[in-house]
Amino acid sequence: MEVFTTIKTIQKELSSRNKKMQLGLVPTMGALHAGHISIIERALRENDLVVVTIFVNPTQFDKEEDLINYPNKTKGDLILLKEVNCDYVFMPTIDEMYSSNVKAETFDFDGLDSVMEGAFRTGHFNGVGTIVKKLFEIINPDRAYFGEKDFQQLQIIRKIVVKSKFDLKIIPCKIYREKNGLAMSSRNARLTPEQLLEAPLIYKSLLKSKELFQKEDVETVKKMVKNEFNRSANMELEYFEIADTETLIPVRDISSGKKYRAFIGVYADNVRLIDNIALN
Ligand code: PAJ
Repeated sequence: MEVFTTIKTIQKELSSRNKKMQLGLVPTMGALHAGHISIIERALRENDLVVVTIFVNPTQFDKEEDLINYPNKTKGDLILLKEVNCDYVFMPTIDEMYSSNVKAETFDFDGLDSVMEGAFRTGHFNGVGTIVKKLFEIINPDRAYFGEKDFQQLQIIRKIVVKSKFDLKIIPCKIYREKNGLAMSSRNARLTPEQLLEAPLIYKSLLKSKELFQKEDVETVKKMVKNEFNRSANMELEYFEIADTETLIPVRDISSGKKYRAFIGVYADNVRLIDNIALN
């Protein structure tokens, strides 16, 4: 495994490879957990070479506090990546990625960013788009891997690929969960023991919503989820929406032949957790 911190050195290494070798990219912000590793292992199976990037991207944090508290576990991350035989790690500095202009580009995501995560985290997806686009340009992979855990992010990245005409394939990866159903997240490390005990409520309520969705209308499903969280001492519901899988537009009425997903954002004190589930 080789670790690079500059654009020049990783590009030199990648350009020296046999061009027939398929290149996979897995962008991350580090503090790697089993969810990340499952994506990386998939990328390793499906490509000849894999680049994992570790970069805590400042322009996608809407709250300074969240950026400051974002876990930094570089040493442990590198050990995990070596264990799975990752080929290359790219971990640039902020200067390397942004020079002196630490600002996000403004994208037109055709409304995909106006709801849910986009509505509650101003500018977040412009920041994500900015860094992912930079990474695609630097690495120029054949395939790039993203988790369905951040489903809205996944759809937004697909939009960037189409609009900017990147010649690469986006590979969506299933949500990896703890045994109790809690979606793995670097932020879970910030939960107190009490919050950890209650956090499985997020996935439980998604499962319940899926069941209820088969026989009740959207409003009834939403009410049920709200009630679940009203009873919780440690989890505060930020949003629960049922949205069209393609447009991400929250719906009140269901049309046959369309695919829907439920999306949830929850606060455990100041830690924000998200999850989602396919409903049909
Ligand atoms: P990060 O939160 O580190 O996640 C890196 C990748 O791992 C993302 O594609 C995310 O969806 C995926 N992932 C995280 N938890 C997962 C889980 N439990 N199951 C499956 N996949 C999971 O997402 C980001 O970083 C950043 O926004 C990034 C795309 C790197 C841009 O900065």
